[in-house]
Amino acid sequence: MNRKYRKAIIAGNWKMNTKPSEVKAFIEELRGLSNRTKWCETVICAPFTHLTVASRAFWNGHVSLGAQNMSEHPKGAYTGEVSAEMLRDVGVKYVIIGHSERRQYFGETDLTVNKKILAALEADLHPIVCVGESLEQRELGLTNELISYQVRAALAGVPADKLRKIVIAYEPIWAIGTGNTATAEQADEVCSLIRALVRGLYGARLARAMPILYGGSMNEKNAEELLAKPDIDGGLIGGASLVPEKFAAIINAANQE
Ligand code: PGA
Repeated sequence: MNRKYRKAIIAGNWKMNTKPSEVKAFIEELRGLSNRTKWCETVICAPFTHLTVASRAFWNGHVSLGAQNMSEHPKGAYTGEVSAEMLRDVGVKYVIIGHSERRQYFGETDLTVNKKILAALEADLHPIVCVGESLEQRELGLTNELISYQVRAALAGVPADKLRKIVIAYEPIWAIGTGNTATAEQADEVCSLIRALVRGLYGARLARAMPILYGGSMNEKNAEELLAKPDIDGGLIGGASLVPEKFAAIINAANQE
């Protein structure tokens, strides 16, 4: 983390877990366990069904509200979809876009990811854009090329004045939900590659200000080491975000004086 230039973000991705009726108690427990500073923002990306109740529970600003997906379309005959405006209207600030599970199971491509990012920005949401390589791609030495392509495709058509809303999460697919965390060095190397790419596209000032997160089996044991790296500005956390003690320990690691 580099507190001089940018804030840290610790974002939980609950995926398809928990029930709306459990949100309030979870937040109360988390509030009692976690510290808070001005340089780190805590986010929970909850399922659509949870968002209205979560928005009330998060009201005092201790936790910001995020969604896990959205439609690329503004409105219309798209049965089952949820638009950026709808998310905004219930108090959502962040939205995960292009998570590898969406790419793998729901056919999302770099093109749809880009469309969703542009639609999210249009509605004033902050996209958390996920990029990451598979184990096979890493072993073939394609990581840097692939990440470069994903980042460039994601940011196509994003004007410089909207870039400040974007967060990028480096999530190697082989590390998600597997317990195989990338080493702090591996994670930092790719996060710094992403920052260099953004620098090339938008200049040093905007690149310096962008929060870049790591995700993939981040937990209460490895968070401190990962967050100590200069280009890792926080985490996108799946499994460990479902347990208040574990999630709070990660938040506290990011909020150390
Ligand atoms: P994990 O998930 O922390 O359970 O590996 C991370 C993610 O998918 O965002």
